[in-house]
Amino acid sequence: MPSKGLHIQLFSIHGLLRSENMELGRDADTGGQIKYVIELAKALGQREDVKQVELFTRLVSHKTVSEDYAQPIEKVSDRCRIVRIQCGGRKYMLKDLLWPHLDEYIDKTIKFIKRQKRIPDLVHGHYPDGGYVATLLSEFFGLPLVYTGHSLGRSKLNRLLNDGMTEKEIIKKYKIDHRIQMEEEILKKADLVVTSTTQEIKEQYGQYDNKDIPTFKVIPPGLDMDKFYPFYHDALPDSEKSETEMYAQASVLEELNRFFKHPDKPVILSLCRPDKRKNIAGLIKAYGEDLELQSMANLAVFAGLRRDISEMEDNERDVLTEILLLMDKYDLYGKIAIPKKHDFEYEVPELYRIAAEKRGVFVNSALTEPFGITLIEAAACGLPIIAPNDGGPIDIIKNCECGIVVDTTDTEEIATAAKQIIVEGEKWKQYSKAGILNIREHYTWDSHAASYMKEVNRVVDNFYTTKMKVAVPSDAIGRRLAKLNYFLITDIDNTLIGDKNDQLETLLQLLKQHRDHIGFGVATGRTVDSAKAHLEKFGVQAPDIIISSVGSEIYYGKSLHTGRGWATHISAQWERKKIVRLLKEFSFLTYQEEDTQRRFKVSYNIKPRKDRLAMIHDRLLRNKCRYNLIYSHNKYLDILPYRASKGKAIRYLSYKWEIPLANFLVCGDSGNDEEMLRGEPKAVVVGNYSSELESLRGLRNIYFAKKKYAGGILEAVEHYKFIDKAQPKVN
Ligand code: GLC
Ligand code: MG
Repeated sequence: MPSKGLHIQLFSIHGLLRSENMELGRDADTGGQIKYVIELAKALGQREDVKQVELFTRLVSHKTVSEDYAQPIEKVSDRCRIVRIQCGGRKYMLKDLLWPHLDEYIDKTIKFIKRQKRIPDLVHGHYPDGGYVATLLSEFFGLPLVYTGHSLGRSKLNRLLNDGMTEKEIIKKYKIDHRIQMEEEILKKADLVVTSTTQEIKEQYGQYDNKDIPTFKVIPPGLDMDKFYPFYHDALPDSEKSETEMYAQASVLEELNRFFKHPDKPVILSLCRPDKRKNIAGLIKAYGEDLELQSMANLAVFAGLRRDISEMEDNERDVLTEILLLMDKYDLYGKIAIPKKHDFEYEVPELYRIAAEKRGVFVNSALTEPFGITLIEAAACGLPIIAPNDGGPIDIIKNCECGIVVDTTDTEEIATAAKQIIVEGEKWKQYSKAGILNIREHYTWDSHAASYMKEVNRVVDNFYTTKMKVAVPSDAIGRRLAKLNYFLITDIDNTLIGDKNDQLETLLQLLKQHRDHIGFGVATGRTVDSAKAHLEKFGVQAPDIIISSVGSEIYYGKSLHTGRGWATHISAQWERKKIVRLLKEFSFLTYQEEDTQRRFKVSYNIKPRKDRLAMIHDRLLRNKCRYNLIYSHNKYLDILPYRASKGKAIRYLSYKWEIPLANFLVCGDSGNDEEMLRGEPKAVVVGNYSSELESLRGLRNIYFAKKKYAGGILEAVEHYKFIDKAQPKVN
């Protein structure tokens, strides 16, 4: 259980991310999410209940972008920093192309964590790429997992399909199928999903198969005060309005003027999705039935985006049809605007400001309203609000005193409130000012961080008490590996286990006794299942690591977790089918039985003759195959990806877990062990070795034991003083 504040790691991999001068809008990947994660990290870093917050992103080092993005560590504040980890080269890359490189990212992050000697208390992934990374880390280290999607693949897919793209094109361009699959996986594993609105939970996450697994929590982001600045700023001499903002302002005005006969009147503004529960009809009735209100103000209803109402889904079509019929019924021509579209990024803030400038009012006439982000935005711009006496608005009005709550089922009450605010100039000013000042106090990233910590502390407590009764977090294989600095790795057949092997028990006892500082792994030609069964039969406890199928697969811990990083790494240029096809015509090769064949291992039995290996190499090389050929016991032939072998798997582990190669003791007996015995690790060839290992004699770091099997291993442990070296030094 973590004490004195949480250590939180946030993952937001893509885009260009730095703590100052954010280049928002530089491209599609450097937008709202970047701002969100930076603001979140900064706000968390200010809190007493946060020990440290680290925001992980991708390191980009290229002349096309600022050198800031190439700094591995950027200190943001005492307890907050940005950590940049490189993957998939150094160039900037769009998010949809990052998928194949995320396993590399994970490996390097593990290494980073081990080097820091500090495992976080919680990981939080942003967007499916960060979510994927955080999910794997949470599995490895046994950590609670928080997720924020920011946007969702299924919604994007639907939107693009609506725009007329085919599914095939969408998959090709955005790898959307992979993204959706990853999102489903993340939802399966997440302990908490943070969203900005309730609508997001129902309508976006609601499309996922695993929508019912995690707990969802709405924590609205701090309002972007640069975007929702008060209306009077525009009138000030040093207003720094950008061209884009001015354009948005002009086009919104033009659009409204298209509808209004008297455009100078105050405007009653409403902005929401065309959904029955939003009760837009209630507002139009309130306006339509009150001639006094009509004479003093215009009504502008922005009800989502539409092209052809007849093609919209039922709920939306009904709502929009009703709006048009009511407009006609009350004869509101020239008084009501119902624009077909608007843009959220720039036009919406301008709309609030235009309405405020005209001394208008914002009305949310929904029947229920759990949050009400538009109310906060409007009030921040200085536009007084009228809102339902329900849910979020009650808090907003209580905190900010920026308007009136009404019973939205009562149309007269809506009309009366609107008239009151519009007519009474002092009241209008008072609400406007209170909104501008109080929203800035209450709807900030600090208040977001406070709600966030409340939820997260609950998740963390829960995780470490209930979930971990089943598996204590210190059992998580990642936590164990992050502590270890010494490893014994042995071949199974004829090395660890052979006949009349009375030393095995002694060796196992010794390993058990020193379990806290020596890891134990096997490296075998067997498949993982066969290795596991065989070890059990001989009473060998589950190893920390199983390198199986001649190094083409790596498994961790009791649960045989696969790190995925290895598979991704070795899959480069691997063409299994092609190799099988090319070797078919050699009659001296017999394809081994199906249960030894693996995705990254093709195995044959071979009748030995001198020139045969050369023939195989020749055929594969001529056909431009990349592979690693391993010949053993004068009868087995394994073809693996060029990056795979038992020895390379050990090197990969050494790299990923930051365990020096020289701290490995590697044990073998035959040809398929040769490569892992060579080089930097301490190696032993057991007494019963096969002749092909004779060539290793005399090499540095290779010890030929006199004793056989496990006895030989014990002899080497003694020879290298392995136990002494591995013992933690006390001084
Ligand atoms: C094991 C495997 C076999 C492989 C051999 C040599 O016996 O089952 O597929 O060819 O080891 O590595
Ligand atoms: Mg062997």
